[in-house]
Amino acid sequence: MQYQWYPGHMTKARRMMQENIKLIDIVVELVDARIPLSSKNPDIDDLARNKYRLILLNKADMADPELTRQWKKYYEQKGFFVCSLDSRKTGSIKEVKSLIQEACKEKKERDRKRGILNRPIRAMVVGIPNVGKSTFINSFAGKASTRTGNKPGVTKGKQWIKINKDVELLDTPGILWPKFEDQTIGMRLALIGSIRDEILNVSEMGLNLIEYLVSNYPGVLADRYGAKEEGDSHQILADICERRGCVMKGGQPDLDKAARLILDDFRALRLARISLEIPEN
Ligand code: G4P
Repeated sequence: MQYQWYPGHMTKARRMMQENIKLIDIVVELVDARIPLSSKNPDIDDLARNKYRLILLNKADMADPELTRQWKKYYEQKGFFVCSLDSRKTGSIKEVKSLIQEACKEKKERDRKRGILNRPIRAMVVGIPNVGKSTFINSFAGKASTRTGNKPGVTKGKQWIKINKDVELLDTPGILWPKFEDQTIGMRLALIGSIRDEILNVSEMGLNLIEYLVSNYPGVLADRYGAKEEGDSHQILADICERRGCVMKGGQPDLDKAARLILDDFRALRLARISLEIPEN
């Protein structure tokens, strides 16, 4: 399977990011808690050199809680500040705010020593498409926040959202392109629905998911479909196909339909809270 991310978009996104990153103190990077490696573009480490870094394991409500804990530790050990959250809820926002303060403590101290008081920390949200950047910005900004800059006829420039007296957020997130060199990464991004399905081979995705589930979440397919988790993934898919009565007009098994069913159930959390990546220690 081949995945495409057009070079033109990539260059534009990169240029925007390079420009904006100069203005900020801390990069708030969203990754998907179900695939914290594949949804992270390592190029950001280069772009955000010398910046404070906060990783948000977003959509944690969909991920395996135990693995999310392990991923948090994994990134903390690499020197990042980390928080897991469901961006649609405002519950974790307080923790994000205090982590930003903590991460930028040194800068605040430096400013204070130079006699610079009340200079807010400037933050920018980055992440690959569909990871939840806009959702996070809305929750983080809340209703009370005010937007500054870009007032017609007054100032030209970026829009900043004043979060509180200490923090300002750039209101346009930086879009990172997923790293597709490795096809496993493409497959994982596809499984969580971050690439449009029309261009993908559904059976191949279903087979891949079945193989992973049988090894890492034994019993899940048996519980949901009564499937026998025996044999290879083709046999298991055929078994689920039969049990669910997925047939084509001529009566042959409709394996694509069965694969689609499993994918939809996975994405809608009807199987379990499943993460597709496990940190290596
Ligand atoms: P983006 O700006 O990074 O492109 O992402 P955006 O905020 O638009 O979010 C993409 C989808 O992910 C949205 O669903 C949003 O509600 C959902 N989402 C964001 N954060 C979370 C989270 O922490 N947990 C869960 N469960 N969902 C989250 P949508 O508009 O309904 O799109 P879709 O679900 O139909 O793709």
